[in-house]
Amino acid sequence: MKTFKALGVLLCVLPMLAWAEGEKPPEREVMKLTSEHEAHVRYEMRGFLVSLQGINEALAKQDFEAVARYARQSGAAAPQAAPRGLGKALPPRFREMGSTTHAAFDQLAVDAATMGDTRVVLEQVSGIMKNCIQCHAAYRFGK
Ligand code: HEC
Repeated sequence: MKTFKALGVLLCVLPMLAWAEGEKPPEREVMKLTSEHEAHVRYEMRGFLVSLQGINEALAKQDFEAVARYARQSGAAAPQAAPRGLGKALPPRFREMGSTTHAAFDQLAVDAATMGDTRVVLEQVSGIMKNCIQCHAAYRFGK
């Protein structure tokens, strides 16, 4: 078990070391969206960050109602008034990772409100952040 953990840490740290030695960061798929669409996606992203901060702060206070509220803000019902045509403009895999992330926030909201269990919330936050990492590693905006 310990060996696996050490291996996991090593695998996570290796790419960072490679980068530190002056290698180029890995390529990402470039998404070309209209400025309105790009602005909306970036707005949603900043909302994700607000939710994660709020969840952490509320968790430290053991306020699970607030944890659920912050999580719901980034749930599937959240992308308010997405501009027309945005869904179609996004690559399918991007859309899928986006929906998975919104759904995970909704699940966290339900579980936090019903279970009130810090460890469950932490695990879910960690799982959500894997989505952030995975998508950021795969896509960027460009011209
Ligand atoms: C479906 C893909 C996807 C997921 C999931 C995702 N992001 Fe992003 N995010 C992006 C892309 C693409 C950019 C733009 C990168 C660039 O600058 O080209 C971005 C940019 C951002 C920005 C900068 C916003 C700005 O105003 O420029 C923040 C903050 C951010 N993401 C936070 C998060 C957090 C936190 C999560 C997880 C809860 C997350 N993102 C999940 C794709 C994603």
